[in-house]
Amino acid sequence: MTLRDQHVLITGGSSGIGLELARQAAAAGARVSLIARDPAKLALAREAVGGVTFSAVADVAVEAHVTEAIRAAEQTHGPVDVVMTSAGVAEPGYFADLPTAAFERAMAVNYFGTLYALKAIVPAMRQRGRGAVVLVSSGAGLHGFFGYTAYGPSKFALRGLAESLRAELNGTGVHVMIVYPPDTDTPQLAAENRTKPLETKAITAGGGLWTAEAIARATMAGLAKRRFALTPGAPLTALYWLSSLLAPLLFWHFDRLARKARGRTGKD
Ligand SMILES: NC(=O)c1ccc[n+]([C@@H]2O[C@H](COP(=O)([O-])OP(=O)(O)OC[C@H]3O[C@@H](n4cnc5c(N)ncnc54)[C@H](OP(=O)(O)O)[C@@H]3O)[C@@H](O)[C@H]2O)c1
Repeated sequence: MTLRDQHVLITGGSSGIGLELARQAAAAGARVSLIARDPAKLALAREAVGGVTFSAVADVAVEAHVTEAIRAAEQTHGPVDVVMTSAGVAEPGYFADLPTAAFERAMAVNYFGTLYALKAIVPAMRQRGRGAVVLVSSGAGLHGFFGYTAYGPSKFALRGLAESLRAELNGTGVHVMIVYPPDTDTPQLAAENRTKPLETKAITAGGGLWTAEAIARATMAGLAKRRFALTPGAPLTALYWLSSLLAPLLFWHFDRLARKARGRTGKD
């Protein structure tokens, strides 16, 4: 699908992957709307994206706020043609050290923040018989990685949502896509790296380090080809297609990496 003259709405569009998606959508001729919490970051993002960019402040974890922001975007740019849900938080750490609130935040922002946006947009897309939905999950939504007991389940939940929704919307003209990025050089990754266990760093390094620009480019190319699942790079592509088959080997390999890394931390 081409994005020219389309209304593309991006949650988490003020930073990182979401900001790059916004830039590339605007460059392709889309009318872009951005939703995030910090008005100062949103104003900078609007400038960086250029074109006819609308923004609204909302916490995606609060359904009434995200719905109101989407209605305001629709008043400016018309019905949403493509929604991309990139708003997300990641708090890696050892299970015993992570407060229960970190698990609740991950589900509230990553899963329910996506769900609320889709609930506000998808029914109208279905009525019009056209549109696209792009969910941003993570490599941590494909396999349960060390250090991601809070983050991983929220990204697995997105996979369940995307697969069920794809099945329901098949044949309606509304396309569903889910992206599983590996480590990507963004403010979120920099923040994560301050608390990420060494074991997690040793394991996720296998997916390489991507730029937000490259992830956004791959996403746009995948959307144009109406792909369902996008797994940038060979390691995550293998994980996506072969994880059940390879599970015993993967557990052995990742446990070994964690043991080696733990040797360096001295933790048992
Ligand atoms: N970077 C990676 O290595 C990586 C890898 C795999 C998947 N991902 C996923 O990719 C997505 C984008 O991550 P990123 O690395 O680009 O992060 P980022 O640079 O920190 O951007 C996150 C965006 O989400 C917004 N946001 C966060 N919490 C929000 C909330 N409660 N309500 C509304 N907006 C909120 C942020 O703005 P405000 O803070 O102003 O609200 C910001 O615009 C996330 O879902 C992340 O889990 C990232």
